[in-house]
Amino acid sequence: MAHTKVLFVCLGNICRSPLAEAAFRQAADSAGLDVAVDSAGTADYHVGQPPDPRSIEEAERNAIDIRHYRGRQLSEDDFHEFDFILGMDKSNMRDIARRDPGNGKAHVAMLLDIVPGHEGREVGDPYYGGADGFRRTWAEVEAGANALVAVLIDRNG
Ligand code: 4NP
Repeated sequence: MAHTKVLFVCLGNICRSPLAEAAFRQAADSAGLDVAVDSAGTADYHVGQPPDPRSIEEAERNAIDIRHYRGRQLSEDDFHEFDFILGMDKSNMRDIARRDPGNGKAHVAMLLDIVPGHEGREVGDPYYGGADGFRRTWAEVEAGANALVAVLIDRNG
């Protein structure tokens, strides 16, 4: 099956996109898909930093260790390197578009746009809330991850 490269993008790369990366890696592994997965932030606030402790805890609750993940910023190269670039909210999509060199290969979309019935919905920023926000983030990125697995299985037939 074709090797597909997927990049998840949020603002800081410490809350939502690391969880999306973890959820998709797990879903793709379970489905036996050959993928490369990464995440990035549109901002440079947390470059080199580990995920937010609440994301680490939420991943742990789902039996995934993300403590070694490190923040990085979205680059123009990413549009040439990745097959899919998936943002979490509309603000991310504007920032991604601003950085898009326009001649890359990546399909760019908002994550929940690929979840049937959830088109147009955002994975909200849980940064300023409590742990329940991170549970919700997990549920949303997991739905996105499963939908993307279905898309890739379809595509690779
Ligand atoms: P993320 O959440 O975009 O899901 O990683 C945020 C993390 C940090 C900040 C904002 C959102 N911040 O303003 O530092």
